[in-house]
Amino acid sequence: MSSPSSPSSHAHQEFHEPMPVFAPFRRVKRFRLFGSSLGAVGFVLVTAFVICGFFYLDNRHFAARFGPNPMDMPKRFNWLQMNVSVSGEGRVEFLEENGGGCDLFDGNWVWDESYPLYHSKDCSFLDKGFRCSENGRQDLFYTKWRWQPKGCNLPRFNATMMLEKLRNKRIVFAGDSIGRNQWESLLCMLSSGVQNKESIYEVNGSPITKHKGFLVFKFRDYNCTVEYYRSPFLVLQGRPPAGAAAEVHTTLKVDKMDWNSLKWKDADILVLNTGHWWNYEKTIRGGCYFQQGMQVKMEMQVQDAYKRSIETVLNWIQDEVSTSKTQVFFRTLAPVHFRGGDWRNGGNCNLETLPEIGSSLVPNDNWSKFKIANAVLSSANTNTNSMKLSVLNVTHMSAQRKDGHSSIYYLGPVVGSGPHHRQDCSHWCLPGVPDTWNELLYALILKSQASHTSNM
Ligand SMILES: *[C@@H]1O[C@H](CO)[C@@H](O)[C@H](O)[C@H]1NC(C)=O
Ligand SMILES: *[C@@H]1O[C@H](CO)[C@@H](O)[C@H](O)[C@H]1NC(C)=O
Ligand SMILES: *[C@@H]1O[C@H](CO)[C@@H](O)[C@H](O)[C@H]1NC(C)=O
Ligand SMILES: *[C@@H]1O[C@H](CO)[C@@H](O)[C@H](O)[C@H]1NC(C)=O
Ligand SMILES: *[C@@H]1O[C@H](CO)[C@@H](O)[C@H](O)[C@H]1NC(C)=O
Repeated sequence: MSSPSSPSSHAHQEFHEPMPVFAPFRRVKRFRLFGSSLGAVGFVLVTAFVICGFFYLDNRHFAARFGPNPMDMPKRFNWLQMNVSVSGEGRVEFLEENGGGCDLFDGNWVWDESYPLYHSKDCSFLDKGFRCSENGRQDLFYTKWRWQPKGCNLPRFNATMMLEKLRNKRIVFAGDSIGRNQWESLLCMLSSGVQNKESIYEVNGSPITKHKGFLVFKFRDYNCTVEYYRSPFLVLQGRPPAGAAAEVHTTLKVDKMDWNSLKWKDADILVLNTGHWWNYEKTIRGGCYFQQGMQVKMEMQVQDAYKRSIETVLNWIQDEVSTSKTQVFFRTLAPVHFRGGDWRNGGNCNLETLPEIGSSLVPNDNWSKFKIANAVLSSANTNTNSMKLSVLNVTHMSAQRKDGHSSIYYLGPVVGSGPHHRQDCSHWCLPGVPDTWNELLYALILKSQASHTSNM
């Protein structure tokens, strides 16, 4: 199961919930960074760089080849991004009045020396598994990419500002461990704006490494809580009804919300996600079948159950959540990037040090699950004006970030990683990609509060 160097603690097991959902992302790179004339030159140079990258950017050899400062290298190719990274050029600010129509999720990753927003060593709220640089990852490139929407500029994240917006409020994350990944990212982002770290604490005194159930962190000076509820399916998992077949050990009640949803529904801001656990291994193979009403649906496929459950979540938002109080976000699936196998048989991503800059990433792999969720979410948003649900549509942007995963750095440096070494290509290093999801969340929260205020 785990590498010889890693203690097989409960926490470790939990952290490593396998997520074999998407096939590996390997596809032809298409670069659309530059205009037509520069395009060819750009393409050649970027391709050459990327090819070199594949051969030379192996972290273990990095220092030897490029000198002691891993940051030397990016400076040499800074010019590649020079025009995409110029902020402000002809773009409106998202928060300005005329910035409202901008699709935040359509954009590019651009190199930005002012990132990351925090360092993991300064943040005590991180699982060990997310602390890649502390666990020996040498390249810090993955911390340096900023998301630049095509149509507007995002506000720079300001922890104090966000904490002011959260004053006397609750922000709740409910979902799987990728949701936890995002929640911990937000804890770090917010705590970077707080001098007295003692003023931030778990209300029940639970340590962050406690993985089951829920964790509620309070920012005392703002009387706000930042909460995480573990609920990988969002719907209810429990005992099968009487008379169910012997192979049915548990059922997922696809038409019923998780009991914990009682604790989410009064949040001021609610960020939901589900997806990675909706696969055969995590359900039927382990004797977990799907149930509707009192009926176990032995024939129901995982994909149908997934669709049904998202509908249940949306109905719950519609019927049970007071949309005048609660602002609801649904974060779409975060892709995994196993190459040469999956999480069980030697799939890896530890040699990835660069995103697929500017690639169009047409979904030609198995994006079926994304499509299911997308279809349900899109129709909910267009059908009902009253549906107050914002989609954090992070799938495409995150698909470009094959460099952002914990890979072999989920616990510590690995000695002699063989092909069968287990890698984590589903969770993300922090600081890293989930920070961007939170920057988008930040922008959307500020925007909605601004429009709320101007409507009054
Ligand atoms: C970058 O943008 C600047 C300002 O718009 C322009 O003058 C310059 O020609 C551009 N450079 C490239 C390489 O496209
Ligand atoms: C962040 O927001 C606070 C509160 O609104 C403000 O006082 C401060 O100047 C902002 N910081 C930056 C760097 O913009
Ligand atoms: C603190 O926030 C909670 C909501 O999370 C609110 O009910 C309570 O009144 C607040 N306390 C103060 C002193 O404002
Ligand atoms: C893609 O998903 C479908 C289910 O929609 C499944 O039948 C098929 O085996 C998957 N293909 C791959 C390559 O995983
Ligand atoms: C998310 O973004 C993708 C790509 O831009 C788009 O195809 C999809 O419709 C979006 N989904 C939602 C629910 O907004």
